[in-house]
Parts: sequence; C-alpha cells; structure tokens
Amino acid sequence: MNTAFNIDIYQQRRSHLMQSMSGGVAVIPTSPIRSRNGDVEYQYRPDSDFYYLTGFNEPDSVAVLCPGRAAGEYILFCREKDDDKELWYGRRAGLEGAVEKYGADDAFPIEDLDDILPRLLEDQEKIYASLGRYSDFDAKVMQWMNEVKLRSRRGIHAPHEMVDLSYLLHEQRLIKRKDELTIMQRAGKISAAGHIRAMETCKPGMTEHQVQAEMEYIFRKMGSTYNAYPSIVAGGENSCILHYIDNNAVLNDGDLLLIDAGAELDCYASDISRTFPVNGKFSGEQRALYEIVLAAQHAAFEVCKPGEHWNRPHERAVEVITEGLVDVGLLKGELNELIETHAYREFYMHRTGHWLGLDVHDVGDYQIEQQWRVLEPGMVFTVEPGIYIGKNSKVDSRWHDIGIRIEDDVVIRKAGHEVLTKAVPTAIDDIEHLMA
Ligand code: GLY
Ligand code: MN
Ligand code: MN
Repeated sequence: MNTAFNIDIYQQRRSHLMQSMSGGVAVIPTSPIRSRNGDVEYQYRPDSDFYYLTGFNEPDSVAVLCPGRAAGEYILFCREKDDDKELWYGRRAGLEGAVEKYGADDAFPIEDLDDILPRLLEDQEKIYASLGRYSDFDAKVMQWMNEVKLRSRRGIHAPHEMVDLSYLLHEQRLIKRKDELTIMQRAGKISAAGHIRAMETCKPGMTEHQVQAEMEYIFRKMGSTYNAYPSIVAGGENSCILHYIDNNAVLNDGDLLLIDAGAELDCYASDISRTFPVNGKFSGEQRALYEIVLAAQHAAFEVCKPGEHWNRPHERAVEVITEGLVDVGLLKGELNELIETHAYREFYMHRTGHWLGLDVHDVGDYQIEQQWRVLEPGMVFTVEPGIYIGKNSKVDSRWHDIGIRIEDDVVIRKAGHEVLTKAVPTAIDDIEHLMA
C-alpha cells in the first residue's frame, strides 16, 4: 500500500466533502498514464484531487461519491487483479483490495464504468465533476448524462445541474490538517537536507547537473520518490532565467548558483530556493543584492500570521526590495512612486508566493469577492522574493548575471507561522561557513 496515512483520513475527507455537497453524485477521475516515447511511459503520478480523497495510486480509476446511498456512499472503479499483467507491470489492489485496503464501500471493474455510472445518475438532481482537466473524461460525462436522458420515457430523471467540484474540494484542500502538515514538515526537511548537500558539494568546474545529482541523491535516499517539479539548477547568467531547467552548464568561479527544487512526499510538495556563490564566497555586488532579498523575505515573514491578508507578504517584500534597490543606486526616485509605478518589476517580476500542498502551485482562491483572502491557520504557502539582473539589463555590467531567489515554505499557525524549510541556511555567514 502506497499511502502514508491511516485510511480513516481519506474517509474523513470524503465525508467532509459529501457534507458540503447538497445531494447529487460526485465523479472524480485520476490522471491517465502518459506516453514518453516508444514503449516508455512517464512515471505515474495520480491526480491530486483523486488522491486526496482516496489515497489510491493506480491509473484507470474513478471514484464516485453518492451521499446518502444506502448500499454505500463511496464506489471505486479500478483495474481487476490479473496475474499475467501484474507479472509484467506491477501489483494491483483489485476489487477486493479497493474495499479492504482502501475503504471503498463497493468496487467495480473500470471496464464497467459506462454501464454502471448512468444508473448511479438516475433521478439525481446534480452531478459534481471537475471538467476541463481531462478531455476524455469530459466527453464521458456528457455521454453518461445523455444516456440517462434517453431513459426519460421510463420516468427516469437525469441530473439537471452540473456543478464544478473544484470549488468545494479546493477550499477543503486549502486548509491543511494535522496529518497533512506532518507529511509536509517531513517533505520540507528532506528538501532542506538536499539543498544543504548541494551547498556542501558545489565547486567551480562542476556542472549544474552534477550538483543536481548530489541534491536529488539526498531526496531519494530520504524517501522521496519524485520531485515536486523539475529542479532548477542555474549558475551565473542562467540564474536570471526564472524557469531554467536545462541544468547542463559548467559552474564558474565567481558566479552565483540559484537552486529551486523540492522533494515530493506521498504526493505533497515542498518548494525551496537558495542562492549561493559557486566558490563559497559572495562578491560585493552579490552580497549587496542578496542582503536585500533576505531582508525582503524576513519582512514578508513578519506578516505571515492569522488575520493578515494574502497579499501582505508580497507588499512587504516589494517595499523592502524597492528600498534596497534605491539604496544601491539601481533605482532612482521617490520610494512610494517607484512602488506605485511598479518600477521594481524590472528586477523583481514575479509574486512573492503561492499556496503549497499536493500541487506545488496548490489549489484555493487567493481572493474572495475581489478582496485578498485573510490568512488562517492551516494555510501553507511559499515566501520567495528575488532580484534578477540579466545580461541585457541597462544597469552597470558589474551587476549583470546576478539572479537571486530565497524561498521557504510557511504554514500559518494560531500564533503566527512556522517555516517548514528553515533547516537550510539563508544568512550569508551561515552559507559561507557551510561551504568552507
Ligand atoms: N518552483 C516553482 C516555484 O517556485 O513557484
Ligand atoms: Mn515557489
Ligand atoms: Mn520554487
């Protein structure tokens, strides 16, 4: 069994969701297997919504929730056991396993979905589904609805309302419970250990890939099967490309290295960025800009607490970065005006964070009725200010090829916040000491 949680946790999540539905039937598919090339497939990763509700890690599965159904509210369609296929492609839970190990009230072969699902929809008022993610599934939903409609002459009613499941489910996913936070704390620790290894091993002349290997060796060794997203290991001028993933350049003495990488644990993401000198010693310009980004992160942390709104950490980071850029002479003008006219965006062009959870850019609205939402205990997000000055910048070339991002993962607690990734240093002295 793949799941790290007690199976009751998934039951609680399904109950919670069913309580927020008003009747109807919810249908939740998992992700398909995707072909990479020839007979090779991409490593399988279940759909986050599906996994959140089921803990079930096999492709070709669909969960159906029928609140109030006497014969059982949770039905799992999945692959049957098959000795020959399992010999070639790995173990399957099968229908019995779906019930016994994964807590389904009923399990049916995935091949029977088209026969059974229209029957489950009969005389239901609503169907809840997240459309727009998997086009094959979207077409199936229409097909099932049409089949029920064809039975109207027998007095059977088809659902007359189609409700987007995402809203209900994603509000639920936004607030992380204790069990999820335990996993996310562990994911943060694994990622931190990998970043520390990268700092300890990095030397001029290594390639970005070699440093990546040192870091990801720790991720795997400590139990993370996948990364939460492809690692960004970006030396020198590459540090100014926000989503650089080639990771194939040689690391030069005197350059900075920006690493943005996180381990995934039981499908939960972590997301850390650190920036450090390839040779272990910050130059004057690197140090000046690094101190600004670090001060921006600290200022943002100060407003990570219940009652502040989502955008406050970004506002604080922007203020500190703009002020710092004025101090070092890279921006000229009056502080408030530079902020209002977004002058800082020449050097800081992304936002200061995003929700974090099963997805690295996790689900949940950032605004409610066009107001930034208020931070609540259990919300997890990143705090990731940066400054980037590429080759083409008009500023003096001594500032060129400096890309800096410092990113940590934060959970809002009743009394403020906890940084899940603090084990990897950010202070210049601590980094230089670690690399010495
Ligand atoms: N690693 C993706 C991000 O920081 O948003
Ligand atoms: Mn991030
Ligand atoms: Mn990141």
